[in-house]
Amino acid sequence: MSSAWNEGYFTDEGYTYGYSREINPVFQRYCLLLRGYSSLENPDGVHCELGFGQGVSINIHAAGNPGSFVGTDFHPGHAAHARALANDWGSDARLYDDSFEQLLARTDLPQFDSISLHGIWTWVSRDNQALIVEFARRHLKPGGHLYVSYNCFPGWSPSAPLRNLFSLHDRFASQPAARPAERIDAALQFSEALLAANPKYASAAPNLGAKLQSVKGQDRQYVAHEYFNRSWDCMYFADVVDALAPAKLDYVTTAVPLDAVDALNLSAEGTAFLNTVAHPVMREQARDYFVNQHFRRDLYVRGANRLSAAEHRERMLSSRFVLLQVAESVPDSVTGPAGAASLQAEIYTPLLAALAAEDYVPKTLRQLSAAVPSLPYADVEQAINVLIGMSVLAPCQSEAAEKLVVPRCNTLNLQLCRRALYSNRIQVLASPVTGGGVLVSRFQQLFLIAIKQGRKHPAEWAQLAWGIIGGQGEGLLKDGKALTTADENLAELTEQAQAFAEKNLVILLALKII
Ligand SMILES: C[S@@+](CC[C@H](N)C(=O)[O-])C[C@H]1O[C@@H](n2cnc3c(N)ncnc32)[C@H](O)[C@@H]1O
Repeated sequence: MSSAWNEGYFTDEGYTYGYSREINPVFQRYCLLLRGYSSLENPDGVHCELGFGQGVSINIHAAGNPGSFVGTDFHPGHAAHARALANDWGSDARLYDDSFEQLLARTDLPQFDSISLHGIWTWVSRDNQALIVEFARRHLKPGGHLYVSYNCFPGWSPSAPLRNLFSLHDRFASQPAARPAERIDAALQFSEALLAANPKYASAAPNLGAKLQSVKGQDRQYVAHEYFNRSWDCMYFADVVDALAPAKLDYVTTAVPLDAVDALNLSAEGTAFLNTVAHPVMREQARDYFVNQHFRRDLYVRGANRLSAAEHRERMLSSRFVLLQVAESVPDSVTGPAGAASLQAEIYTPLLAALAAEDYVPKTLRQLSAAVPSLPYADVEQAINVLIGMSVLAPCQSEAAEKLVVPRCNTLNLQLCRRALYSNRIQVLASPVTGGGVLVSRFQQLFLIAIKQGRKHPAEWAQLAWGIIGGQGEGLLKDGKALTTADENLAELTEQAQAFAEKNLVILLALKII
C-alpha cells in the first residue's frame, strides 16, 4: 500500500496500541515542577499530539484532562482507529489524518498549552522536522511546553549502521510484493548473514549480534516503525536544542523522573566531572556520554520561568500522589544506568505505609511529610520521585480537574472494556485522578465487566471471562505453556481473578477507574 502520501515513512504495517505516560500533560507538568519550573495549567487548556499512532494515548489524555485535544497522524488507518475510539466515548477531540505540512497549513487551530511528539522526530525527514518547529513557533502559547522524544548519539553510534542495513535491504533488495513481516524477516536475515561474514564493522562495534537477536524477538509492528523508515535522523541532544531554538524553546529537563537522582545515573567520578561543566547544554550533552544515552524524552518551554525556592516547595507540598500498585508489591530496589540500588527501608517503609493508608486515596506531599515526621523534606521529595520513576506512583491533577473528567473517563473505560470482549489490543484504562492511563489487562477488563454486572465473587468473574475467551476458541498460557482444557483455563482465570480482587481493586478504586 506504499503511496506518495507517506513520504518514505513505513506505512505498510500499522503501529502498536501502546500507551505512553510521558504524553500526559499532568505527568509533564510534574516533571517541570520537580525541577522548579512553572507551567500552564488551566481547565480550558488545549493540547496537541503530533503523530498519535493508533490514538490510544491521545484518547486516554483527552478523557483524563480537562480542556480539549487536537492531534494528527497521516496514516489514515491510524486516524480512523483513533477517531472510532473517540466516537465511542463522545469525545470532542479533533483528530486529523493530516500530514504535518497539512496541519501547519490549517487556519482553524488555536494556540496550545502543550505540544507532544513521541517517537516522531528521528523517523521523519529534515523537512518535516522543520515543519514541526514552525508549527511550535506558531501554535505554542508563551509559557507552554513541548515534549519530544528521539533516538540520540552517543548511545546509537555502534548500531546506527546496522539499522541502516535493514532499511537499505528493504529499499533495494526486498520483493516488493512480499508482506511487510516477510520483508522485515528478509532484511534481518540479510543483516545476520552480513555480520556472520566478519566485516571489519562487526569487530569495531561491540555486541551487534546481541542487538540483532533482540530486534528479531521484538513485535513486528514496532520493528517496522522503529527501523524501516527511509528517514532516520539520529541526533545529538545539542543538535535538537539548536533545531528547536527558532520556536523560542528552552530546554528544561527530561520527562524521566529518575534522571533527577544523580546516584542512579552517574559514578562519583562522572558527577564530579559534570560539576565542572557550567553551560547547561554542554553539561547535559556531556552527561549523555556518561550514561551512553540512546533515547531521550525531553521537555522544552517557550519562555521557561523558574519558581522561587519558596513557591517551588509550596507547589510540591500541595501536589497529590497515588500508588499504582499495592505497597507490598513495590520492588525494594531500583535500577539506573549506574546500576541497582536498594530502597532504604527507613525511608520507603513508612512512606509506602502512608501512601497506602485510607485505602490508598491520593495524598499531598504535605500530608505524606506529616505522616513521616522523622524524615527530612528532601528525603520525602526524592523518595516520591524515585517511586514515580519506577512507575509505581503517579502525580495527580487537582481535585477540581479530577471532578470535571470523571464522567468522560467512565464512558471511555466502559467502551475499552467492551472492546476487551473481542481483543487484547488496548490494555489500559483512563484515571480521572492522574489524567493518564493505567495498565489493566484484557482479562482484568473482563473481570470489571463482571463486577459491573453485579457478580460478587472472583470465581464468577473468571466464569464470565472464560465464557468469552473459550467461546472465541482462545486459551491461556501458564509458564509459557498453553492450557488445553476448560478446567485448566478456568482454574488459572480464577487464580488471576482472586489476585485481582486482593491486589488491584483497591488501587483501581483509589484511581477512580471503578
Ligand atoms: C513511531 S510512530 C509513534 C506513534 C505514537 N506517537 C506512539 O508513540 O505510539 C510514528 C507515527 O508518526 C506518523 N507520521 C510519520 N510521519 C508523519 C507526517 N509527516 N505527518 C503526520 N504523521 C506522521 C506515523 O504514521 C506514525 O503513526
